[in-house]
This record gives sequence, C-alpha cells and structure tokens, in this order.
Amino acid sequence: MKFNKICVLGLGYIGLPTAATFAAHGIKVLGVDTNSDIVDTLRRGDIHIHEPGLRETYKTALASGNLTVSTRPEEADAFLIAVPTPFLEGRSGEYNGQQYKLADMRAVTSAAEAIFPLLRKGNLVVLESTSPPRTTLELIAPILARSGLTAGRDFHLVYSPERVLPGQILRELIENARVIGGVTSESAQAGADLYSVFVKGEIIQTDATTAEMVKLMENTYRDVNIAIANEFARLADKFGVDVWEAIRLANRHPRVKILSPGPGVGGHCISVDPWFFVETAPELTPLIYNARRVNDAQPRYVLELIKRTVGVLKGKKIAALGLAYKPDVDDLRESPATQVVHILQTEGAQVEAWEPFKPDAKLPGIHMAASLESALKDSDAIVLLVRHTEFVNLKPSDISAATKACLIFDTVNAWESDAWHAAGFQVVRLGVGK
Ligand SMILES: NC(=O)c1ccc[n+]([C@@H]2O[C@H](COP(=O)([O-])OP(=O)(O)OC[C@H]3O[C@@H](n4cnc5c(N)ncnc54)[C@H](O)[C@@H]3O)[C@@H](O)[C@H]2O)c1
Repeated sequence: MKFNKICVLGLGYIGLPTAATFAAHGIKVLGVDTNSDIVDTLRRGDIHIHEPGLRETYKTALASGNLTVSTRPEEADAFLIAVPTPFLEGRSGEYNGQQYKLADMRAVTSAAEAIFPLLRKGNLVVLESTSPPRTTLELIAPILARSGLTAGRDFHLVYSPERVLPGQILRELIENARVIGGVTSESAQAGADLYSVFVKGEIIQTDATTAEMVKLMENTYRDVNIAIANEFARLADKFGVDVWEAIRLANRHPRVKILSPGPGVGGHCISVDPWFFVETAPELTPLIYNARRVNDAQPRYVLELIKRTVGVLKGKKIAALGLAYKPDVDDLRESPATQVVHILQTEGAQVEAWEPFKPDAKLPGIHMAASLESALKDSDAIVLLVRHTEFVNLKPSDISAATKACLIFDTVNAWESDAWHAAGFQVVRLGVGK
C-alpha cells in the first residue's frame, strides 16, 4: 500500500519524532495536537520537548514543506494515534479490598472520534498509545465504525506499540524491531507497508491484541524485576551487605540478570502500564500488583534511610539532585524523585531541587534551584536521586566549595564512596548495610 499523506494525532515525545521522521522520508505529514500552545510553538519552528537531535530533524522536516501542524486533523491515507494514556485521576478500582489504578483513555477516545468523520475506504488507522488489552478491538473499532465503515473490511486498523528509549528516540524509531498487530492480516500488511518507509529494524506482523499485550508485557517484566532489585536492596541493608556488589556478583551467573534498585519507578510507561493488566484482570495479577506496590513504596523507603541518619528532618535544608524519572532526560512524569522531595517536605525539611534538564520546571510545591550551586548553598544534606551523567561525573572538589553539607544520600550508586569519604563526605548509599 502507498501513502502520500498521513495525519499524526498527538505531538509529544512519540508523535513529534514520528511525524518528523515520516516527513524526512518524503511523506506529507499533518501533525495534530489539541494543545494550541504546542501547535504555536511548533509553527514558530521551535520544539517543546527535549530529545537529542529532534530540533534539527524537526527543522529539516518543516523546511522540506512535508510537515505542517494544526489543532485539527484532515483527510489522509493513514492516521496515527500517539496521545497520552495516563492514570485516571481521582478514581481507582478495587478487587478483594485492594485498590488498583485505572487507565485514562479519554485522549484515545477523542482522537478516534476526531478521525471517524474523515475516514475513507482503504485508509489505515494505527494506535500507538500504550493501551489495555483489547482496546483496538473494543474501544477504537466501534468508534471508527460510526463512519459507516468496518475495520478490517473497509479500512485497515492496527495496533503498533512504541518501544523507543527517551534520549535515543530518533535512532531507535528507525532501528528497533517493530511489532504490527492488525485486526486482519491485510491490516497488518498495510501497517508494515507504512512503517517500512523508515524502519530498518525487523517488522513483525501479528494480531492487534497480541501486539497490545507485547507492549504491556515488556514494561511489566521490567517493573517486576526492578521491584525484586528494590527488595534485594532492603534485604542487603538489613543483613549488612552492599547490594550493588551482591548484584554484580550474582550477575556473573550466566542466566541471571538482576536490574538496579533505586528511589522508585517512574515515567509514563513502566510505572503505569502494569496497572493496565491489573485493571483488566485483577484476579490473575497478584505478582504484578505487588511489584507495583513495592516500587511505589520505594520513595518512602528512601525517606526512612535518610531519617535513620539525620533524625528529625524539621528545619533541615536538603539539596535534591535530579527530578527526572530516569537519567539524562527532561521527563518528570510520575517521577519517584519528585515524590521523595514531597515526602521530605511533609516531614518538615526545606528542599531545594536542581534538575539540570529542566531547571525552569513548574512543579506544585517544589522549589526549583536556579543552579547546582544555589541548591547546595546552606544545605545540611544532599540527596542524589537521578543518575544523570553530569552528576556521575561530579568530583568531591566540584561541590565542596558550594556546600557546608558533608552528608550525602546516594540512591543510585553514582558516587564512588571511597573518593568522597577521602574528601570528608559521609556517603550513605541505598542498599548498603555495611
Ligand atoms: N514517551 C515514551 O517514551 C513512550 C514510549 C513508548 C510508548 N509511549 C506511549 O505513547 C503514548 C504517547 O506518549 P507521549 O510520551 O508521546 O505523550 P505526550 O504527553 O508527550 O504527548 C501526547 C500529546 O498528545 C496531545 N493530545 C492529547 N489528546 C489529543 C487528541 N485527542 N488529539 C491530538 N493530540 C492530543 C497532547 O497535547 C500531547 O502533546 C502514550 O500512550 C505512552 O504511554 C510513550
């Protein structure tokens, strides 16, 4: 199948690189976002998110004339939905007295509702947003059927999960293997035809529900494995062991690959997606449920670690280094680091947070420092929450002049304790009971 014009709904971390990459490969692309501030920014030739290489790719796509942006979709050969699927705020489900989070599918629903009046015979519709199993068949297909056309018969419908790594999105979009799940094999083939415009990785065709499950399984697998690493950290702490050394030694076993503990699990994927399984089958998912509980409790575990050394936190000044949900990105969504800051403040600490990737972030209740130095100034203790490369590269001499604090809590095993101890700092590392 040939595609002359496509419409990408949702111009965030996924949709914008995807739209720009299609345009860079000669396809006419209309990028659509319901947020008019984002559309205004993009129309000015600027971008609203941090992703290495995206600014250049976007500018090239814009200059080629292949990419335009709007708040409203238009007729096209294919429609891609890359809108958010976060938690539903203020509501939860319950099974056997245990609460679980629910997916907020309103953006997906409204994107499908914007497409159906424009749908023509032979079109392709792709859902890329991470979604609970059977969303393509049971949510998207019925909405698109309001056009009078039937998915799999009159138009193609596909679920294709996005598995790019933030920080590497432009490269991984092209190089990663891509799973394309069609409601029919013809739909899957149409999806494969579309992505083969730029994908160099393997394109694997399957059915839509399998593709939905694949995405959720990938992230759930990581969440459960991080949960066990976090429990290992707690156990190491109790038994007088250095968990980082123990993990390194255990991973010498040829069939063991333990992940790293940390202050929790965040971001818009791993901390969210496992709930989509729990929501749709709570009776089948006790392990997934409990792994989520373990990881969600980890910021509080960090608090306990700090309190054990500092004692009463009231009035203490703490510098929190890093707010992103993972290293070297500016994405603060569902970040456990921000939760640690909130919990510290609830205990009466005064926290100055420094996030080099988003120094001007506006987060309710969090005071952002203008620089590393101003976060450190007058602090009684330093809490390292994200393993940003620039933090890992800091040497004791880089910060000793800026702070009177000599107490460091390293939740990500970034600072080689010996060098810091030699410089007069006391470093308390997560998961180190020695
Ligand atoms: N960010 C990642 O690394 C990543 C990786 C894999 C999968 N995903 C999934 O991809 C989806 C998109 O994620 P993202 O990180 O790009 O989200 P994002 O929040 O960065 O961007 C989504 C954009 O969609 C816009 N939007 C909301 N409703 C809309 C509508 N009805 N029509 C058009 N635009 C609309 C929003 O204004 C926003 O700009 C989510 O389901 C997410 O779970 C994200």
